[in-house]
Amino acid sequence: MALLELILLIFVLLTALSIVWTTLQTGISPMMSSGKACQAMLASIDEGVNGPLIDLGSGWGTLVIAVASKYPHQQVIGYELSWFPWLVSIIRKYSLRLDNLTLYRKDFKNAELNNGSILFCYLFPGGMVALHEKLKRERLNEILIVSNTFALPSYQPTKTIRLKDIYQTPIYVYHWRPKCSLTPTTYPNFTSAQIVDGGLIVQPKNVNLVTVAGGHFPKGVYHAFDYSLFFENLKVNIAERIEAFSR
Ligand SMILES: C[S@@+](CC[C@H](N)C(=O)[O-])C[C@H]1O[C@@H](n2cnc3c(N)ncnc32)[C@H](O)[C@@H]1O
Repeated sequence: MALLELILLIFVLLTALSIVWTTLQTGISPMMSSGKACQAMLASIDEGVNGPLIDLGSGWGTLVIAVASKYPHQQVIGYELSWFPWLVSIIRKYSLRLDNLTLYRKDFKNAELNNGSILFCYLFPGGMVALHEKLKRERLNEILIVSNTFALPSYQPTKTIRLKDIYQTPIYVYHWRPKCSLTPTTYPNFTSAQIVDGGLIVQPKNVNLVTVAGGHFPKGVYHAFDYSLFFENLKVNIAERIEAFSR
């Protein structure tokens, strides 16, 4: 066997091994979305796009390239862990001169998704659980999520499209809204308080928690937080007043 053939064989074997290895690591192979799936996923965006479009697990670049071509003036980002599919997607990006497309070889779980306006994914059940946890943990702003085949656990899709293929593959569309926590957070001894010349002087421990960007009051005036700063004291005081009144 010629040396060149041997080198080629070793390269093919190592590449195949690396794909198998990453598939075992991530839980999904770099299988690409079908043409019908790409079309349906793109068509499901029926509203204005006002931020980066992100593919979580961009594989060989099939979907992310379709997105970047359709939205040449939007920033499009792909995250992919498997190095060979990622390399192929990079070559495709440069050969198509898609300057609006950035492809990272990175775990999407460690990515900053807060600025994104649309998330695309074609993952697997465990990947969707990881995504759901990330969304809940990082309290993302409202965001549109379009998922090929796999659903988010315990979150209702806004719509489900069935592809006209033999599996009737579902495409799930979600309008993700972060839930507000109903449990208030309290910070014992958060501030001192002293009346000086008829004004209340407070020294909050963490001024970032009592600062409103573009607020109505000048810097250092915490009038907007009158109730928040003394919420626990007010509760005690109200209880004492009710008690005194009903005596
Ligand atoms: C089924 S493919 C989808 C490829 C592409 N999005 C498409 O629709 O054509 C899923 C890809 O997600 C990648 N992947 C899985 N978990 C990942 C993670 N945590 N971070 C980055 N990529 C991941 C896999 O390596 C695989 O290439």
